[in-house]
Amino acid sequence: MSQGIVTVAYIGATILFILALGGLSRPETSRRGNFYGIFGMLMAVVATIIGIVADNYFILIAAVAIGGTIGITLAKKVQMTQMPELVAILHSLVGLAAVLVGYANFMDQHNILTGIDKTIHDVETYLGILIGALTFSGSIVAFLKLSAKISGKPLLLPARHWLNLGLLVAATILGAVFVSQSAAGSGTFPLILMTVIALIFGVHMVMAIGGADMPVVVSMLNSYSGWAAAATGFMLNNDLLIVVGALVGSSGAILSYIMCRAMNRKFIAVIAGGFGTSGGTTVAGSEEEAGEIIAVEAAEAAELLLDAKEVMIIPGYGMAVAQAQHTVHEITRKLREKKINVRFGIHPVAGRMPGHMNVLLAEAKVPYDIVFELDEINDDFPKIDVSIVIGANDIVNPAAQEVPDSPIAGMPVLECWKGKTTIVLKRSMATGYAGVSNPLFYKENTRMLFGDARESLDAVLKSID
Ligand code: TAP
Repeated sequence: MSQGIVTVAYIGATILFILALGGLSRPETSRRGNFYGIFGMLMAVVATIIGIVADNYFILIAAVAIGGTIGITLAKKVQMTQMPELVAILHSLVGLAAVLVGYANFMDQHNILTGIDKTIHDVETYLGILIGALTFSGSIVAFLKLSAKISGKPLLLPARHWLNLGLLVAATILGAVFVSQSAAGSGTFPLILMTVIALIFGVHMVMAIGGADMPVVVSMLNSYSGWAAAATGFMLNNDLLIVVGALVGSSGAILSYIMCRAMNRKFIAVIAGGFGTSGGTTVAGSEEEAGEIIAVEAAEAAELLLDAKEVMIIPGYGMAVAQAQHTVHEITRKLREKKINVRFGIHPVAGRMPGHMNVLLAEAKVPYDIVFELDEINDDFPKIDVSIVIGANDIVNPAAQEVPDSPIAGMPVLECWKGKTTIVLKRSMATGYAGVSNPLFYKENTRMLFGDARESLDAVLKSID
């Protein structure tokens, strides 16, 4: 394949990736967006294999077959609730690839380039390996935390900011040493030392971040993996890798920023660590002081819904666990047939991954035009007759507004308690992801419907019929 055709294929792939990002920004177009992404990647891989790779086809095809089989098997096996872990472990592979390609390229090109070209190439190699190594180790720790294989509590070393600063300074000095030694034909030692430092930095950075802030960390590592790929693109002189890396890097950074805003966190504060403690139950007073809870049965909940004119459904992580989205849609349909205005209120960090609730509701074919973001509907709660909270906890926790030292203090929450009645569906009085008790459950206009969300909703549906 001539270089011209490769360039055209790369431009086509770039356009498809941009269309993919555009498509993924709205539920209505996300399926199309995914297809654009798949075609773009197919085009890029085929053009690279046919147009650029000159040798070793057997190794390449064997590697693609092995990697592809592992990928397909994992993707089929993984539960929706395990998606963040899968994403984290995949980021670690991007980081590892950047490190390995960086080393291979360093060894390969070491004695070929000279002068300023060599210096620029060395800087690209150094940055690619640095970002790749910290993405690799950071993503592994994120995976271990998300899958509860290690504690989600932040590890706060006494002088952690100094340690981070020290590692950063050491990596910068080693960079200068590497470039000057590389010009003289060596440089392997500072490169290896920097890799070790970057690996330690990645572990330390993610260990210091608490459970409640993990969504931000995952999207931040997504961003890092993009920048690692972009640096590798510079190193390999591959324009497509640079563009795709920059797209992933910047979209991950934008998503991190949006999530920080949704959780009322400062990005720098999240990265510096210590937020989002997963252990504490920081509601003022003990549970006895918090008041009485009022439990209801499914039939009573159904009656409340049938008497309402305005209903708000607030889904959370428990809806995903119970796979209750189809029953939720059935109930919605029935209530709307009875001329009850039903809407959905979606919190930006409901569930365990960005857009988690939207994906489930789309799968159940809930119409998009009754699904609203927090910003769009939070002021409407005083007009709501019944809010039904399905397996959500942190995202409807008034402690975020009422308890200044709560780990979730300042996080915007869906203010369902301002409506007439709130029905909360969950199995017990257990806390949610952030480990914080929820005063909502003790409010006098709250009714608790205990049980698995799907079983409870099946019973509610029967009573509505
Ligand atoms: P959570 O606060 O985690 O609460 C979920 C609730 O669902 C739990 O209290 C649990 O109570 C209940 N539940 C679990 N299984 C259930 C079932 N089968 N039936 C009924 N209830 C069930 O969830 P949320 O309100 O959606 O908030 C999300 C939290 O996750 C936030 O703290 C957020 O920061 C964090 N997080 C979000 C993301 C993203 S990007 N969305 C990623 C990682 C972490 P019981 O055990 O009593 O049933």
